[in-house]
Amino acid sequence: MNHTTNLILPSLLAADWSKIDAEVKRASDAGAKWLHLDVMDGAFVDNISFGPQMVETVRKCTDMFLDVHLMIHRPDHYTDRFIKAGAQNITIHVEANYDTSVTETLKRIRAAGLQCGIALHPSTPFEAALPFVQDIDLLLVMTVVPGFGGQPFMEQETMPKLAAARDYRDAHGLKFHLEVDGGIYTHTAPIAKQNGANLFVCGTSSFGPPDMQQSMRELAAAVAG
Ligand code: DX5
Ligand code: ZN
Repeated sequence: MNHTTNLILPSLLAADWSKIDAEVKRASDAGAKWLHLDVMDGAFVDNISFGPQMVETVRKCTDMFLDVHLMIHRPDHYTDRFIKAGAQNITIHVEANYDTSVTETLKRIRAAGLQCGIALHPSTPFEAALPFVQDIDLLLVMTVVPGFGGQPFMEQETMPKLAAARDYRDAHGLKFHLEVDGGIYTHTAPIAKQNGANLFVCGTSSFGPPDMQQSMRELAAAVAG
């Protein structure tokens, strides 16, 4: 799948965790191909979500592509556990603390046969990703401050950066996906698409409504064409 394919990625953070297997099935039945899993450590972000065991649990429930977003410090220390748990893409934040380095961690993820990504906090400039753009499959431009679902889309702070990333990628013959994450709804997804996104993480807007088939259809229509 290349960076011209548009996908809606439900974010598990917004699911009903009292019935994870049913929620994962609901997303898959609603047509999701990728599922976004938000790992939070309570240190890199001001919230705690889940760890490798949740990835392992979800792995048992589905053959959807598992897109793991590590909002944690020392992602290199935990990478092997997420690889073993069944992640298929692992995205790490350039702003996190590392025992080794971003480059070493990206190499380790790819050496295990997974895809790898770099994530940028809304306040982090695109230039911070430049040292890594040759070695990633995905650049995640956060469109909210990482840590919580249900926040408003940060258009002014993030769309110029997204467009700059798209222009740089295309000017240098690179092929990484551009993923946006946070505050993505039918009215904001087209703005992100216009600025270069092709992967759209949707928590509240996909899992929130009772009819997920309809919400996923509406979100897909909002970014079609
Ligand atoms: C926030 C997470 C997002 C979040 C999506 O730190 O990275 O994936 O779950 O949130 P909403 O509900 O805005 O789609
Ligand atoms: Zn996320």
